[in-house]
Amino acid sequence: MNREDFPMLNHDLIYLDNGATTLKPKVVIDKITDYYSSYSANAHRGDYDISLRVDNEYENTRELVKRFINAASRKEIVFTSGTTESLNMIAFGFFKHYLEANEEIIITKSEHASNILPWFKIAKDNNLKIKYIELDENYEVSINNLKKIITPNTRVISLAGITNVLGDVRPLKDIISLAHENNILIVVDGAQCVPHMKIDVRNLDIDFLAFSGHKMCGPTGVGVLYAKEELLEKLEPINLGGGMNESFDNLNEVYLKPLPTRLEAGTPNIAGVIGLGAAIEYLNNIGISNIRKHEMELGKYLFEELSKIRHITVVNKKPTSTIAFNVDGIFSQDVAVYLNKYGICVRAGNHCAKILKDEVGVKNTVRVSLYLYNTKEEIDKLIALLKDKNKILSEML
Ligand code: ALA
Repeated sequence: MNREDFPMLNHDLIYLDNGATTLKPKVVIDKITDYYSSYSANAHRGDYDISLRVDNEYENTRELVKRFINAASRKEIVFTSGTTESLNMIAFGFFKHYLEANEEIIITKSEHASNILPWFKIAKDNNLKIKYIELDENYEVSINNLKKIITPNTRVISLAGITNVLGDVRPLKDIISLAHENNILIVVDGAQCVPHMKIDVRNLDIDFLAFSGHKMCGPTGVGVLYAKEELLEKLEPINLGGGMNESFDNLNEVYLKPLPTRLEAGTPNIAGVIGLGAAIEYLNNIGISNIRKHEMELGKYLFEELSKIRHITVVNKKPTSTIAFNVDGIFSQDVAVYLNKYGICVRAGNHCAKILKDEVGVKNTVRVSLYLYNTKEEIDKLIALLKDKNKILSEML
């Protein structure tokens, strides 16, 4: 759908690496160009027209994000450089102070590095325990397996809403209800779910959410940290500097600005934030549920077609919009390089989920991750190239 909106699709390529980043529609590119060509000033600092225009556009994106995830207030929306920075701020700005020795952090082995390494670090520093929810036979999180590892010492559960390698959708509503019944806070790594399905933070009762602009048709280098206001009030700034302080004096007395500004030190990624606003408007116009329906239909088709090929092992147990597989006996990166010769972009390797291998038994895979502009014809071309193992082998040499 909407392929004509994406200048990158004028090139002769089949882009199937949307879990890594998505293509940008012209409206987003134009919005960024317009900022740099027509009103290129800093935010929240100037008393002249173009600076005020920047403030309006910048804060308008905050309002768009607030509505997109149904947050209660704009104060709860902090702009960051992306999911990684948001998750680090959550771990180091909040949980490092909130958790005490021997308390437990629950994650899974299918999390992306950004939702593992900050927890490892604070666990080491504060003598905390990391526990993993055992995945079920479909490599999914089940409530029963979660119940098995919760103890009175469990204080936080941090999970991707959708995982980046196998694309499984976590039952967030049930997980969050169970967590809150046990006084456990919830962090959702929304990098792969916010671009693909409606995430309503109030309906789901999410405590903390992190996501990136570039995986939802927006620019790179911009993302969002959402937290409930009472929690965000307690999140200590990692970055201190201009823009976030009200005043300071030579006796070390520092007064910080109110939320969310005190968590946005320094000149922000203004073009990125403004571009993110355009991306949200773009996705709103198409409708996130229409995007999900389209990519799930394609994912089902892809899963079925890959499963018919005898020399291919699909790692996913069920169809979804992100499928990982291997061509038997051929290193995943060689498959990616072979597909690249035909203009097909896929990701190969461990996809930054380096301990998922403990659950699925394979370290490296080829991953196809779909989005709104992908088509059945693109999948047919991919399948045709994968069907002939001899061709892959001969062209690898
Ligand atoms: N986290 C991104 C991916 O899964 C980069 O590809």
